[in-house]
Amino acid sequence: MNPVFSTIFLKISRWRTKRGALPIGPDSIPLPPEEFMELVSGRTDNPVEQFKWAGEVVLRMLDEEAMTKPGTSFLDVGCGCGRIARYLLSKPIASYTGFDRHPGMIRWCRDNLSRRAPHFEFQYHSLKSAYRNLDGHDGAQPAGDFTFPYQNESFDAILLASIFTHMPLEESAHYLKELQRVLRFEGKVLLSVFLTDGEPHSNGVDFYHNSRAFLKSVTEAGFVPKFREELKGHYWYTLSKPAQKQGT
Ligand SMILES: C[S@@+](CC[C@H](N)C(=O)[O-])C[C@H]1O[C@@H](n2cnc3c(N)ncnc32)[C@H](O)[C@@H]1O
Repeated sequence: MNPVFSTIFLKISRWRTKRGALPIGPDSIPLPPEEFMELVSGRTDNPVEQFKWAGEVVLRMLDEEAMTKPGTSFLDVGCGCGRIARYLLSKPIASYTGFDRHPGMIRWCRDNLSRRAPHFEFQYHSLKSAYRNLDGHDGAQPAGDFTFPYQNESFDAILLASIFTHMPLEESAHYLKELQRVLRFEGKVLLSVFLTDGEPHSNGVDFYHNSRAFLKSVTEAGFVPKFREELKGHYWYTLSKPAQKQGT
């Protein structure tokens, strides 16, 4: 969305919030159905607490990485039911685009998040994914062939929270190339991944990539990786796309 329009929408959203209509703070937005919260956060005794904890932790990392600053054009790959988006609603980013292969979650995000902030757009893509073993949704297109429907260098900040944790290495390597294409120079990706120093392994939904093989795909895609932190077995990295050299 045009940055001028998104600033106007954000101002209108805040004005409506002040008047008591359609609040945008994370605690004032309805929670998604428990089934969706469990699909993105796993089964726990307290799905609400786990859902909120993850949203807050990822927001902290995005803030620390300066990925939520004014004017940012933000892409959330595998946005699920908006666990992170609900926290981004009150940030001064210029635009948010999230996509996922779960139709019900995208519908929920449109009904509950875009309604509050029209510069938040949620897109459904029918993609094949190992995640079908959890939620039963078949997709039409192999993720390894999926060309992100965005122009080159469209985004300043890209998030993949618990996405490569559910994708085989070949698919992740393809996504890394797409991320490199759609990210602006000097932009940043924040992602989590499961890593092992030994043989890669999977239970059909969770994928543990060999650390060296994963980092090789990252550098082959043209990114500079930086390890941030490990949280509950998820390894969080930022990938940066260095400024274009003069004359290239
Ligand atoms: C653990 S959930 C995380 C959702 C969201 N990122 C969050 O942090 O709440 C994993 C999500 O990845 C989505 N997903 C799985 N395979 C995908 C793919 N190839 N491309 C995009 N999304 C995918 C699933 O539908 C699911 O919503």
